[in-house]
Amino acid sequence: MAAPSPRYFIRTYGCQMNERDSEIMAGQLEELGYERAHGADDADFIVINTCAVRASAEAHAFGYIGQLKAMKDARPHLKIAVSGCSAQEPGTISYLKKHASHVDLVFGTHNLHQLPMLLERVDAEREMVVDVWKASGEVAENLPSRRAEGVAAFVNIIYGCDKFCTYCIVPFTRGREQSRRLPDIVAEVTSLAQEGFEDVTLLGQNVNSYGHDLEPALDLADLLRAVEEVPQVRWLRYLTSHPRDFSPRLIETIAASTKITHHVHLPVQSGSSAVLRKMNRKYTRDQYLNLIAQVKKAIPDAVLTTDIIVGFPGETAEDFEATLDLVRQVEYDAAFTFIYSPREGTPANRWEGRWPVPEMEKKERLNRLMELQYAISLAKNQAWIGRTDVVLVEGPSRKDPDVWACRSQTNKVVLVPREPGVELKNRFIPVRVTGARTFFLSAEQVGDPLPILAGTRRVPLPVL
Ligand code: 5AD
Ligand code: SF4
Repeated sequence: MAAPSPRYFIRTYGCQMNERDSEIMAGQLEELGYERAHGADDADFIVINTCAVRASAEAHAFGYIGQLKAMKDARPHLKIAVSGCSAQEPGTISYLKKHASHVDLVFGTHNLHQLPMLLERVDAEREMVVDVWKASGEVAENLPSRRAEGVAAFVNIIYGCDKFCTYCIVPFTRGREQSRRLPDIVAEVTSLAQEGFEDVTLLGQNVNSYGHDLEPALDLADLLRAVEEVPQVRWLRYLTSHPRDFSPRLIETIAASTKITHHVHLPVQSGSSAVLRKMNRKYTRDQYLNLIAQVKKAIPDAVLTTDIIVGFPGETAEDFEATLDLVRQVEYDAAFTFIYSPREGTPANRWEGRWPVPEMEKKERLNRLMELQYAISLAKNQAWIGRTDVVLVEGPSRKDPDVWACRSQTNKVVLVPREPGVELKNRFIPVRVTGARTFFLSAEQVGDPLPILAGTRRVPLPVL
C-alpha cells in the first residue's frame, strides 16, 4: 500500500488578501502531494497566516500558536509555520524564538511562492527557518492555488499600500504598492470565469491606486471596464477603496455597469477634519461628504459602507460628535467600527503615549457609534422590503439548516427558506425581500435559478 499523503491545515486571520494568500499556499502544498486535513488534529503541516492590523487579531493568532505547543509535543513530526503580516513586523521573530520554539518556519507575504523550497529547508535544518523578505521584487504570476469552494473568487490586482495612514501597520508589513499587469489580471479572471466563478472580487489594500505604477499608467476604471468584458463574469466587486483616489471616472464606470457592484465601501475613519489630518487620510470631512454626495447622485441605489476608528490619540468629545454627525448624514448601510489599536512602528503609536483617550471613554464611544449605526442599518434594510433582487446561494445557514444563506451583489446577507430536496447551493436566484433585521434581510424565491454561465463548479459530484 502506498504511504498516505501528508496533510496540511491553514488557519487564516484577517483580511481577504490573507485568505487569497492561503489559497496560494494550499495550491503549492497540493502540488507537493499534500492533502487538505480536516483540522489541526490530523495535520502534518500547520500554517498560521497572521494579521497585524489590530492587537486583538494578533493576540488571537499568537494564542493559537501557543496552543499548538502541546500538539507538537505529542506529535513531534508535526511541522508548524507562521506567515502573514505579523511575520513582517519588527519584534515578531525574536518573540517567536523566545516563546514559541515549537514553530519550524517563519515566512512573509513577499515570499510565499517559495513555500516548497522553505519546507525542504525545514527538513534539512534543525533550527527554526526564518525567511522574511522586505519587498517582493517581481510579482510572481501563475502560482498554483486551491480556491475556496463555491463560485466566488478573489483576484489580487495590487499589493501593498503607499498611503501611510498614521495608525496603520499595513504599509510596513505589506510594503510598497505594486500593481499586476492588466493582461495578467484579465487572463486570470477569464480562466476563472470559464471554470464557473461568476462572482469575482478584485483585491488590494487600496484598489483605487491600481495602475499608477504601471507603464503606461492605468486606473481602476480601466481595469473594471476590461474585466467586465469577460462574458461569464456575472458580478464584479472590488476591495478596499480609499476615498482620496475614488475618481469621478470610477463613479461613472460603476453607475453605468450592471456587473460592477453598486456596493461602495468608503472607509471614512473619522468625521472630524482635525483627526483626519492627524491620521494622514489626505481628505477633509467636507471633501468626503462631497464624494458621498457625488456617489449618491450618480448611483442612487448605492449600498454605502465604511470603516470607523474611535479613540484615535487626541480624539476629543467634539471630534467624536463630528463622527456621529457624519454617520447620521451619510446613512451607511453598515459600518465596521474599531477601537484604535496602537501598532508599534506607526507614528500614532507615539502619540498614544502622550494623548491617549481613556479606555472607558473609547468603549463608550464605540458603543454609542454602534447603537447609532445599528438603528440606521435596520432602517436601511427595512426600505428593502417588497423589492426584488438576485442573490447568490452560499449554502445552508449555519444557524438554521432549513434556510439558505445568500448574498446580494451589494454584499447584504439574505436568508431564503429552503424547499426540501431542491439543491440551490452556488446558484443565483431571484428573490423578493419580505423582512429586515439589522444584519440581514429575509426573502422568498420568486423564480427559477439563473442559468449557469459556464464551467462545472455547480455540477453535483457523484456520491462514492
Ligand atoms: N486600530 C484600529 N483600527 C485599525 N484599522 C487599521 N489600523 C487600525 C488600528 N491601528 C482599521 C481601519 C481600516 C480597517 C481595515 O481596519 O478602519 O480601514
Ligand atoms: Fe492602512 Fe491607510 Fe493603507 Fe488602508 S489606506 S491599508 S488604512 S495605510
